[in-house]
Amino acid sequence: MKKQILVAGGTGYIGSHTAVELQNNGFEVIIADNLSNSKIEVLDGIESITGIRPIFEKVDLSVIEETEAFFKKYPNLEAIIHFAANKAVGESVAKPLMYYRNNLNSLMNMLEAMKEHNIPNLVFSSSCTVYGQPDKLPVTESTPRKEAESPYGNTKSISEDIIRDTVKAHPNLNGIALRYFNPIGAHPSAKIGELPLGVPNNLIPFITQTVAGIRQELSVFGDDYNTPDGSCIRDYINVVDLAKAHVVAIERLLMNKQNSNYEYFNVGTGEGVSVLEIIEGFERSTGEKVPHKIVARRPGDVEQIYADTSFANKSLGWKSESTLDDTLLSAWKWQENLKKEEVK
Ligand code: UD1
Repeated sequence: MKKQILVAGGTGYIGSHTAVELQNNGFEVIIADNLSNSKIEVLDGIESITGIRPIFEKVDLSVIEETEAFFKKYPNLEAIIHFAANKAVGESVAKPLMYYRNNLNSLMNMLEAMKEHNIPNLVFSSSCTVYGQPDKLPVTESTPRKEAESPYGNTKSISEDIIRDTVKAHPNLNGIALRYFNPIGAHPSAKIGELPLGVPNNLIPFITQTVAGIRQELSVFGDDYNTPDGSCIRDYINVVDLAKAHVVAIERLLMNKQNSNYEYFNVGTGEGVSVLEIIEGFERSTGEKVPHKIVARRPGDVEQIYADTSFANKSLGWKSESTLDDTLLSAWKWQENLKKEEVK
């Protein structure tokens, strides 16, 4: 019998790519999502890539009654991957309570359900935002966490603490937090990808929408940072490579290979790339021009961050494989497949 994995938030950007990789590796995927920031048609994309339609339940996991009903219906889950969270930095500053309530309640509800229903394993979506602006680069897992710049970032940091403390008190539970750097790109089939609602906050969707003519021009937020070309540096990880990291994390948990029952890993490429290099890379790989102008710095941006991935490479046996150019091209192919009306 196939092992059942709950993918909470599985119709979202990273969740949908992870559902594909889990199915490709012989797992049975059950998606629970409230569709607050994703569309049900994502299931068609997953099915058309893998030949299998994942089981889907529309559930708000931040509501305890809905969570309990869901777990009663699925008593044979082996593990949970938890992606179901709000993720817009700016919105979190304006609506902190919404972020704390949604992101933390859903995690705590799921941990309660894991205790209650003997589901031993959790993989959690964390973020490099927990490091703030690090004093030393690249960041390793032992780089100290810093006070979060936003309520969104704080929910990731607090969530890590909640998991750490819960599995400590309940040694039959196991958790792995994956600290993502900047996930970009789309499945090479262009059947699933990122679907930002409204004006995108993140760099790559803004670039693809600009090139598609939906936005006039990209604003590059600052060229006066202390970096070689003056623009900010990030570690841009291909979303399919990132999805594969979840599969190896699940396998590690199912095979009891953990060093302790709470672990956390950096999931990035190990390469720092500037905003201006992203623009060049996009132009090189797609042959399209990216209209852009330099504007003032965006408040809250860190100057540079990129990962030391050696711990994930060694312990998980995982590493990022895609080239930046291929990843940027995949983002553009996805954009070309989208109808303009889908982006308000
Ligand atoms: C942010 C969050 C991260 C979260 C990610 C996805 C922080 C510190 N980081 O990453 O935790 O996982 O969003 O939601 O909270 N840029 C432009 N013009 C644009 C858009 C972006 O120049 O129109 C630049 C930014 O200044 C930055 C880089 O592009 O240097 C990447 O920005 P973005 O894609 O928004 O991601 P982060 O802010 O790095």
